[in-house]
Amino acid sequence: MSDLGHTLDRDRMPRHVAIIMDGNGRWANARGLHRTAGHARGEPALFDVVHGALELGIEWLTVYTFSTENWGRDPDEVAFLMEFNVDLLERRRDELDELGVRVIFIGDHDDERIPPAVLDRMRIAEEKTAGNTNLNMVYAFNYGSRTELAAAAKAIAQDAVAGLIDVATIDEDTIADHLYCPDMPDPDVLIRTSGEQRISNYLLWQIAYSELVFTPVLWPDFDRHELVRCIAEYQSRDRRFGGAIDGVAE
Ligand code: IPE
Ligand code: IPE
Ligand code: MG
Repeated sequence: MSDLGHTLDRDRMPRHVAIIMDGNGRWANARGLHRTAGHARGEPALFDVVHGALELGIEWLTVYTFSTENWGRDPDEVAFLMEFNVDLLERRRDELDELGVRVIFIGDHDDERIPPAVLDRMRIAEEKTAGNTNLNMVYAFNYGSRTELAAAAKAIAQDAVAGLIDVATIDEDTIADHLYCPDMPDPDVLIRTSGEQRISNYLLWQIAYSELVFTPVLWPDFDRHELVRCIAEYQSRDRRFGGAIDGVAE
């Protein structure tokens, strides 16, 4: 591990860090700027975190970029976010590839509201980086957990009707296997910036036993050093997974 993680416990590094990148609008408002300026300033923060994740040897980084509920925002902001994501994927694709980052998208991508150019860029980025192994960067775009779970239920029901699976065998693994990215391990830690303490329909199934870390830092002010602070907080927790507390007599 590089200098960046020298304060961290190497034996307890999270394998998967999930992030709700929140607070772009407030960051911009505080400076008298338009909300979209906050989104634009979120990009260098995200790429600093990608570099930090690579330095720390994190295997999976999942970032919430657009929720199924975000369509309810002002149409100009939604249009900006769509355009911004196309542009970002275009500009950063080669850099991510050179860093050995594999880009994966999760979310409802059959939604006709997503401009075809965005879907195109997503596909190209996924294909170009498919063989990379340094970091899996999962981009949750038009993502909502309830939509994901409903889609899983539908696919499982279709398999059952087609006689491909026996209803009696449906278990937790069946659900997990029908999520958008079945290979993705559950997050060890979920970080949310901007001081909000809620999940906002993110990875509901996958975070069953994740440690939750909330930081007041607004997303555009976040960077790899804030990431280290959040991981230190994660490492201070006692993960029990329903077991007994170590050293306490029953
Ligand atoms: C997060 O920042 C980015 C997206 C949801 C796309 P916000 O835009 O939610 O910023 P705040 O929460 O209004 O400050
Ligand atoms: C969650 O943030 C979605 C993303 C970060 C993309 P929101 O800002 O949309 O969530 P709420 O509305 O505060 O719950
Ligand atoms: Mg927000």
